[in-house]
Amino acid sequence: MVDQAYYKKGFQKSISNTHTWRTVENSGKFVTSVIKPNFKMLDAGCGPGTITIDFAKNYLNEGGSIVGIEPTQQLIDSCNELKRKENVKNAEFQLGSIYDIPFKDNTFDLIYSHQVLIHLEEPLKALKELLRVTKPNGFICIKDADLEATVVSPKKYDLLKEFSILKAKNAVSTDTKAGRKLRSKAIKAGYDPKRIKSSISQWLLADDLEDKRKFAEMFIDRIKNSGEIAYQDEAKNEKIKQKTIDAYNEWSKDEDSIYCITNFEIIYQK
Ligand SMILES: C[S@@+](CC[C@H](N)C(=O)[O-])C[C@H]1O[C@@H](n2cnc3c(N)ncnc32)[C@H](O)[C@@H]1O
Repeated sequence: MVDQAYYKKGFQKSISNTHTWRTVENSGKFVTSVIKPNFKMLDAGCGPGTITIDFAKNYLNEGGSIVGIEPTQQLIDSCNELKRKENVKNAEFQLGSIYDIPFKDNTFDLIYSHQVLIHLEEPLKALKELLRVTKPNGFICIKDADLEATVVSPKKYDLLKEFSILKAKNAVSTDTKAGRKLRSKAIKAGYDPKRIKSSISQWLLADDLEDKRKFAEMFIDRIKNSGEIAYQDEAKNEKIKQKTIDAYNEWSKDEDSIYCITNFEIIYQK
């Protein structure tokens, strides 16, 4: 088991940049049905911290707090920079792994973990650890994409979905069907099925050409610079990378085009 499942070959800013547009509104809305302003929260695998800071600023009061944990120092540094920039007092960031959360049993009212389990070698171990640090009656809110349920249209842009699945499969521990398996993983980890509330939400790029341009730009930069691969064979890999970049460029200017990523969510009350 590796504590850094995602940046195994070293931290890549071009990858983490593709997470910085995330907010509570677009990535954590399901949590708003249970959150209370005075809650003590944990964001397990907080990445660049944009969602963590949004929770702190706009959903918690000075009696509430949130801690973001991440196993990568570069991300903790950028989270702290964002915290200073946004002048947020009730958020903290610290190095830590979801497999060994640096807090005592029964610490948090609410835990949020977004697009983390999907990448883990041992998601069940992480789920058990989340349970340990949640207070009795507290909430565990998890959300994972199901990359195989992605819809890209028109058909000529299918390569965008294909590339995202191929590179995820090459990442070894990324589960391209993580979303649909989330409920079942929680039950296997010992969560009582009667206390799980499931939902789905989508990220949809369709109407706004400016949003599509930004999305394509971020992912083209990631394809060029992250070192993620679709094929082991170098020539084959370079060829699909270039074709995917071309497809992103065309897709982003096309009024007809859509990109829809489906996410599965669970809220568990301990
Ligand atoms: C796809 S990113 C999601 C980041 C953030 N939750 C967001 O949605 O913006 C996955 C994150 O999981 C983190 N991660 C990988 N292994 C981890 C572990 N063992 N414990 C905690 N976080 C981990 C990575 O560093 C990365 O930031």
